[in-house]
Amino acid sequence: MSDKELLIPYTRLPRSEWPEIYERLEAVALEATRRSYAPYSHFHVGAAVQLESGELVLGCNQENASFSPTLCAERTALYAIGAQHPDAVVERLMIVAETEGKRVHPISPCGVCRQVMMETVRRQGKPFEVILCGADEAIVISDCRLLLPFAFDGSDIPS
Ligand code: THU
Repeated sequence: MSDKELLIPYTRLPRSEWPEIYERLEAVALEATRRSYAPYSHFHVGAAVQLESGELVLGCNQENASFSPTLCAERTALYAIGAQHPDAVVERLMIVAETEGKRVHPISPCGVCRQVMMETVRRQGKPFEVILCGADEAIVISDCRLLLPFAFDGSDIPS
């Protein structure tokens, strides 16, 4: 028997130490929260993605009365990129959330979105940064794969 442990490195970055790109991504992600369709949870999530080309793409959660078809902000953004910029490389993705007009603490992507992030990495052959953005600080995960240890991916399927 051998016991193992996985540790996940991340950085807490106070707003005063943000690079300029974080301010720009935050503005786009906040605009995305305003476009969010969340009549059931009233939890408005915005994602802003920076592509390697420098272009910024946004996504926001899209809810449904039947609940399960609801799509998170992160997947909305990543799938829009798959459709509109199929050869693009994602460099970083920022997430913000608001409810009742107020910012909430930095929120973390759900498990399904993490799985979709893994597919993006496989597709583009390169990991990307994830930034969980709060009003006062950002939590930065330099490689999105760290968010899903023991992930199942395409390499597990025999060809
Ligand atoms: N949601 C996101 O859009 N992203 C997350 O990372 C967590 C949850 C959405 C889904 C749903 O519309 C609402 O937040 C409440 O779960």
